[in-house]
Amino acid sequence: MIKPVALAATHMECRDLKESMAVMTDLLAFETISEEPGEAILKHPNSPWVLVLHQAGAEAPAKPMHNHWGVRVQTTEEVDRAYAYLTAHKKEYKLGAIGKPTWSHGSYSCYFVEPGTNGWEIECYEDFARKEVAAQKFGGVKKPHWEEIYPEEKFPGRGYVPQAFTHGTLVSGDMEVSKNFYTSVLNLEVHRFSGHVIYVKHPSAQTYIVCALRENPKVFSPNFRNTLTVDAKAAVNEAYQEFSARGQELGITELWPVQENNGSASFCFRDPGTNCWEIASRN
Ligand SMILES: [Fe+2]
Repeated sequence: MIKPVALAATHMECRDLKESMAVMTDLLAFETISEEPGEAILKHPNSPWVLVLHQAGAEAPAKPMHNHWGVRVQTTEEVDRAYAYLTAHKKEYKLGAIGKPTWSHGSYSCYFVEPGTNGWEIECYEDFARKEVAAQKFGGVKKPHWEEIYPEEKFPGRGYVPQAFTHGTLVSGDMEVSKNFYTSVLNLEVHRFSGHVIYVKHPSAQTYIVCALRENPKVFSPNFRNTLTVDAKAAVNEAYQEFSARGQELGITELWPVQENNGSASFCFRDPGTNCWEIASRN
């Protein structure tokens, strides 16, 4: 069993880096941490989770909406204003479909597609978070993910302010198998939301990944993955040895070699539900 110290990053494959970056920064309040040809690292100021964009060109496969990420606003009015703002700027930012806000799983949400075909959700758990007992459920992921409000001055003129980068998504072909894998192999917390949805998270943060049952999910490249950090290079190598030796038994369906970069080590693998992950050492 690995001992992750954080669910540190999530990776999104896009078609044109600049186009996707513009959506992340101008419409979702991400900040650019670094940028190099074909790759950029972004972060929401209120969230520890880092978003890494990988440019894969115009031929990058289209992603279904059930593979999406989400940011959270404080009020349902903001979701309505976000829908209006996105609709008014659809052409400018080359957005795909923008769904009218709807209620689902306790959230009032607006879903849209960015130019790289990835789905994004602007969610609001205002009503849910108000009910103290309900808000404690599911590892507290529906409570506000911020200690300090990200002020409107920092994201003016849109009528809504994303307060945190809250969640991503995973797919599963067998919920029990996925649940066991995330708890016993990756040592993560799992909270059951329903018969076909679990929430996966690291105990150190509220950031979570929604894992939902899907029939015949599309298989994507490691450009679409989540990164768990471990505390040293030795722990990466140890995990790699174990996954190499006992992969099939553990539920690893694909394993990529260890890579070393600027003193840190990492490798990617695919879980039983076809999702790619990366285990990396902290720099
Ligand atoms: Fe979502």
